[in-house]
Amino acid sequence: MLHKGIGRIIYSQQQIEDGIVKAAQWINETFKDTKNLVLIGILKGCIPFFGKLITLLTIPLEIDFMVVSSFKGTNKRVSEPVIVTDILNDVAGKDVLIVEDIIDSGLSLAFIKKHLEEKNSGRVCVITLLDKTEGRKVELEADYSCFKVDNLFLVGYGLDYQEKLRNLPYIAEFKPE
Ligand code: IMP
Ligand code: MG
Repeated sequence: MLHKGIGRIIYSQQQIEDGIVKAAQWINETFKDTKNLVLIGILKGCIPFFGKLITLLTIPLEIDFMVVSSFKGTNKRVSEPVIVTDILNDVAGKDVLIVEDIIDSGLSLAFIKKHLEEKNSGRVCVITLLDKTEGRKVELEADYSCFKVDNLFLVGYGLDYQEKLRNLPYIAEFKPE
């Protein structure tokens, strides 16, 4: 058994992949006239979504990554997100599309958006695999979300419980014992 606590499957691999195909169509259309586009994946949760997504894109783009720690799940203290690893590419004058696994309070993304805007980038847009709209603490909307989800704790397809279960090919509810 992989892990105790894995509950019902919320999205199967097929449902997720169908959602990603639609997301890719949205990107291909929305950014078709963009000269310089940089997709920025927020590690580590973005990995499966990002990997699948970029193989379906037919427009010119660069990819880059950030590691941002929000101390979630490890500490009750509400802390400012911290940039552990910044992007390497120069985004000045380029349009940026942030690729996230899930948005909950929106605090991490608000911080990341501000950080990228300070680098004199062009448009800063957001695409997310999952969107917990009920959890918002700041005003922040994704430009595209594949799935809007209820306020449950989820694992799989990049999402972790204590750094494990990111490798599940589906998204399931998780209830710690
Ligand atoms: P926010 O700053 O509250 O929007 O937090 C977003 C981050 O919290 C995501 O990028 C995930 O890393 C993590 N997160 C939020 N909800 C879940 C969940 O249900 N499972 C696993 N990680 C989650
Ligand atoms: Mg994340």
